[in-house]
Amino acid sequence: MKKQSWQVGYPNGLIKYIDFFRKKYFQYEVLDVVIDNYIKKHIHTTGKRICSLGSGTGRHEVELAKLGYEVIGLERNEESVNIANQYIEECNVNVRIIKCDFMIKEDVDRVMSEIGPVDIVALLLVPISISDYARAANNLADWIKPGGVFVTDNFGYTVDVDPKRLMFASNVEVANSPDGDDYAVRMNYYEYKDNIVNWTAIYLYHDDDGKLNMKKDHDVLDVYPEQEGVDPLELNHNIFELLPNHKVTECDESLCPPYLYEYLIGWRKK
Ligand SMILES: C[S@@+](CC[C@H](N)C(=O)[O-])C[C@H]1O[C@@H](n2cnc3c(N)ncnc32)[C@H](O)[C@@H]1O
Repeated sequence: MKKQSWQVGYPNGLIKYIDFFRKKYFQYEVLDVVIDNYIKKHIHTTGKRICSLGSGTGRHEVELAKLGYEVIGLERNEESVNIANQYIEECNVNVRIIKCDFMIKEDVDRVMSEIGPVDIVALLLVPISISDYARAANNLADWIKPGGVFVTDNFGYTVDVDPKRLMFASNVEVANSPDGDDYAVRMNYYEYKDNIVNWTAIYLYHDDDGKLNMKKDHDVLDVYPEQEGVDPLELNHNIFELLPNHKVTECDESLCPPYLYEYLIGWRKK
């Protein structure tokens, strides 16, 4: 396994606009049904308590609550916590968002000792490395009930890519605010090399005073080609049993950056 690690951060004030694009392209109402079916297929507990890591602006969390889950979201970005709470209130659903860094074990233990054990831990669409996924799973392992699952997603290539050759892609997106009275433009630039995608996005949007603003965001995605029966996280197999992958074909292509498809990977707690 590659032992890389990286953190994603967002420039102040940008999350509200990033959320316009999440709402437009991420197809949560489709993807969360896929996740629900994956969980139902593999879980051996009867509860529906889910802890969602990196809950962002609360979109998965609201959909999962609509599907009958009791949802706890852990998110370290305060602006995202505030936007999520506003959205949760509008939707009137059973979701609690807590400010927490899931990469810091002491922070996780502090929060989870108040929450108690859960049936499921989900880590969805969070651009951290595969070895960071493993760290997140290990940090939460004590808080997953026996028979419960850890479910996450990852990307595979849709085309043959020579890992040594640098490949580029770019596109432009336009998204309206949920109430349609605002909009933002995003210019995306992707560089593919050695199973790493560097994704730079330039956002154009109007600030609260109506002035045109431009901000840059940068994400790093790890691409781990899907191999059935191979545990990309190398979790402790005395604790976790590897589950089969699920290739996400239910959503349309706009869910993923160019050349990539998404699949779910899961482990069941013994
Ligand atoms: C790309 S967003 C996705 C949000 C949400 N999961 C979704 O699918 O819409 C990734 C989120 O993970 C959060 N995040 C990344 N690392 C984190 C960490 N170590 N602890 C808590 N939140 C984290 C970021 O702040 C961001 O809100």
